Amino acid sequence: MNLVSMKEILDDANRENYAVGGFNINNMEFLQGIIKAAEEVNSPLILQTSEGAIRYIGMDYVVGMVEAATKNTSIPIALHLDHGGSFEKTMECIRNGYSSVMIDGSKKPFAENMVLTQKVVEAAHSVGVSVEAELGKLGGSEDDITVDEREATFTDPEEAVEFVEKTGVDALAIAIGTAHGVYKGKPELDFDRLEEINNKIDIPIVLHGASGVPGEDVRKAVTMGINKVNVNTDFQQAFTAKVKELFAEKPDLYDPRKYCGPGREAIKERVKEKIDILGSKNKA
Ligand code: 13P
Repeated sequence: MNLVSMKEILDDANRENYAVGGFNINNMEFLQGIIKAAEEVNSPLILQTSEGAIRYIGMDYVVGMVEAATKNTSIPIALHLDHGGSFEKTMECIRNGYSSVMIDGSKKPFAENMVLTQKVVEAAHSVGVSVEAELGKLGGSEDDITVDEREATFTDPEEAVEFVEKTGVDALAIAIGTAHGVYKGKPELDFDRLEEINNKIDIPIVLHGASGVPGEDVRKAVTMGINKVNVNTDFQQAFTAKVKELFAEKPDLYDPRKYCGPGREAIKERVKEKIDILGSKNKA
């Protein structure tokens, strides 16, 4: 496949203070909509699949589609495993041609997360594949959680220093108040913590759960050191809203091309809005 490593893409972003989208694909329309948008605005791109998306699409289809999509592209693209849950899953993706993997040991105790990440880094780096890891726990969208409980799950800046030094990981996902999926209230990001972490570590920092976070807050996080921003739900919502709108207008629709095509177009437009916020336009 015509892919580059995520490290190459993110090191440029880190040097020039912008962020690149880690955009999740769920099917062919997502893949095509996302790549078309990035090509139109000349942005680098990190295409990512969760383990669930790999199960849904099938590994051979993921790889086959990405191979077709990247054959004639002029922008740098990485194919990345999002939230890899085990050493074995990361190795399976690498064997199938992924140029980057995330190992998510964030729910394990600190030392165990570190050992697991070290093991993945050693194997991945030996074949030129980059690695993202996570420290701290995402969540925090629950209304009934106290501030102390919330902050206890956030990334500890001192731990981040030790983790990065000892694992040699290429990018670190941190917990500063975002959550995956749909927010119940307005997400409150801990920018002071982000600033402290960014002052202490040199590698690119990743923000997960960016869907539903106001554009100005994502922009602020990028100016303060975030170099990769993960988005999935926003694109799912854009696709589904379009399909619902079409069915409301024409309940007799039956040809999937007549609603999946416009859904793909809706994803493309939403991706371009995100790229504008991240500042990766014309950075390809
Ligand atoms: P959202 O679905 O909330 O955008 O989160 C995506 C993500 O962080 C994937 O790792």
